[in-house]
Amino acid sequence: MASVREKSDSIYYPHLFQAGKIRNLELRNRVFMAPMESNLAAKDGAVSDLMREYYVARAAGGVGMVIVEYTCIDRPIGRGGDPSLGIDDDSLIDSHRSLVKSIHKAGSKACVQLFHAGRQTHPKFTNGLQPISASPIPCPMYRKMPRQMDRDDILRVTEMYGHAARRAVEAGYDSVEIHGAHGYLPANFLSAASNKREDEFGGSLENRQRFPLMIVSAVRKNLADKALIFRLSADEFVEDGTKIEEAKDTAKRLVEAGVDAIHVSTGCHERIDRNVEPAWMPEGWRIPLARAVRQVIDKPVITVGVIRRPQIAEQALKDGSADFIALGRALLADPEWPNKARVGQANEIRPCTSCNWCVAQIGTGHTPVGCAENPRTGHETETYPVYVGNSERALVVGSGPGGIAAALMLDQAGYNVTLFERTGNLAPGLVASAAAPKKEKFHWYRDYLLQKLETSDVDVQLNFNVEASHLVERSPRLVVVATGGVDRKLENVSGLDLPFVKSAYDVLSRAEEIGQNPIIIYGAGEVGCEAAKYAADRGYDVVLATRSSDEGALSRSNNLRIYREQFVETIKAYKNIRIELGAELRSIEPGIVRMQREGKEVIWNAGQVLLAVGRLPNSSSFEEVQAAGIECVTIGDASDVRRIGDAVHEAYRVMRDFTIRAAPSGKALEALPF
Ligand SMILES: Cc1cc2nc3c(=O)[nH]c(=O)nc-3n(C[C@H](O)[C@H](O)[C@H](O)COP(=O)(O)O)c2cc1C
Ligand code: SF4
Repeated sequence: MASVREKSDSIYYPHLFQAGKIRNLELRNRVFMAPMESNLAAKDGAVSDLMREYYVARAAGGVGMVIVEYTCIDRPIGRGGDPSLGIDDDSLIDSHRSLVKSIHKAGSKACVQLFHAGRQTHPKFTNGLQPISASPIPCPMYRKMPRQMDRDDILRVTEMYGHAARRAVEAGYDSVEIHGAHGYLPANFLSAASNKREDEFGGSLENRQRFPLMIVSAVRKNLADKALIFRLSADEFVEDGTKIEEAKDTAKRLVEAGVDAIHVSTGCHERIDRNVEPAWMPEGWRIPLARAVRQVIDKPVITVGVIRRPQIAEQALKDGSADFIALGRALLADPEWPNKARVGQANEIRPCTSCNWCVAQIGTGHTPVGCAENPRTGHETETYPVYVGNSERALVVGSGPGGIAAALMLDQAGYNVTLFERTGNLAPGLVASAAAPKKEKFHWYRDYLLQKLETSDVDVQLNFNVEASHLVERSPRLVVVATGGVDRKLENVSGLDLPFVKSAYDVLSRAEEIGQNPIIIYGAGEVGCEAAKYAADRGYDVVLATRSSDEGALSRSNNLRIYREQFVETIKAYKNIRIELGAELRSIEPGIVRMQREGKEVIWNAGQVLLAVGRLPNSSSFEEVQAAGIECVTIGDASDVRRIGDAVHEAYRVMRDFTIRAAPSGKALEALPF
């Protein structure tokens, strides 16, 4: 019998690139694209041209199957956002057919995820209709009271699932996935946390499984011989919610009812940190849950969640924890993940940091999905930068991710590029982001960018404090100012120049050492909170003080409320962090700080004071450069303090437009150089 290695398409990850099968569906490898709502659907719920290109990029990147994002089977009441892909009307079949054709042409199989939001939606998405659910218990995120579904509702929605399956078959999908995870409608019934019914659809697990099993039979009936997958939260991580033992039982019942594979996910809206994890959740943490499900069924199991490096995926397959791997954000960051892994170029994979900029994009702004590191994600139909190739000089000041991206793009376009960094460390901001415990993924990203710089022709100048004259004397064609942010200065506080007063940001970015106990951190935004965690983990006693008396000020700039709240809870759980709200710093003297609280002065001992009162654009002005007639652009935090993704995207667009202006008919540069 041939060994796995002999049967595989890859000598590097033989299990990952071995062909696989679900029911009769033959798959070229074991890597799937996880379903991810993209906000790229057309207003009428059809597949847009941009959405098609977005999926084609991932299919061409080498996945065995694309699981198309959650697709509503019952609009408007079952919509989870706006815009929202639909499959509840025959008029939508053509657009799905064209998507499937394109995915097939790019070499991958296509599956569509059938979705009903249940209680996890908002009337602004349902055209004002009251959401429906198992019981009248609001979703903790949207806090809208749902209407309890009666028997007629249950029969109607079951039928809608069946019709959607028929349309999926007509559109040519190879497979269908029922979204039964993450607290959406089927999960509202499965979970005792959201199902308090006393009829045959509530109470015992058997009763709670009844409606999801009705959905399975309705879908199965219309699916001909196509593969049916069910996505399940193996643990919702909420009180009374689904736990692994119940999930195992449900998986068995689903298989008996005709499901061909179980996609083991976790979490719900309330526990989005277990569904779309933040950076500190470890890689592959959900794999044991998939393994537990796999032990009780004889059908394939798909594992998902913070799988970033091919060796982690390979190991999960090799040790029998799962049969397939679904990648979500890893493919937003790098659609070519499978192709690169297959040929042993794992270190070329742009590593997702789990920064969740993408989630903030779709979750709060309702803008198209995007990736902080990859400005092409969600913008697949936009024009490319072009090759200019005139070897003119271009100077980039500042080596944050935006500065590095700009330098690499100019290098790729044929400029003679020098990148200046004031400190001895490239991308010091990424060092700061990686400082808190378990955030090593930011180091991966920094290492990746540094490797890109190393293999480019960019001349890197460290410890170089750039002045305008340095730039002018080099007569460049372009100067890019990417000098990042600087700490905001406190007004009317004496003692700021004492040696034990430091910037929290500088400590996080390792430009400064952490000092002596106790540590007073003044300012409790994201940087202050991260610094508190950093110091507390090193055994220091920390006082985290803020002028605001509102707890909502803690880590305020963190991207999504729910992640912020969970982060704040972890800070509060530290015994050696004392949070002081409503405390205003008045003066610093050797060994003490004087604070004003509720109109009274309080004095605290201080071994070190770390200031974290916000960042402002580093407005290094290079007026002389412009006066010398040299084009000068400011990007990233140097123009407005924001997140990594904003800096990288701005760098990309400004540089792209610059190259197009310089060489309107230049050759398109399709490969992203960073
Ligand atoms: C932008 C975004 C949109 C998502 N939309 C869906 C969705 O439509 N359906 C679904 O089941 N899961 C959705 N998820 C969850 C992912 O499928 C995946 O389970 C999760 O991101 C964890 O995997 P990862 O670490 O590989 O990203 C979404 C995740 C992200 C980041
Ligand atoms: S935005 Fe952040 S979390 Fe989302 S895919 Fe990109 S790197 Fe990963």
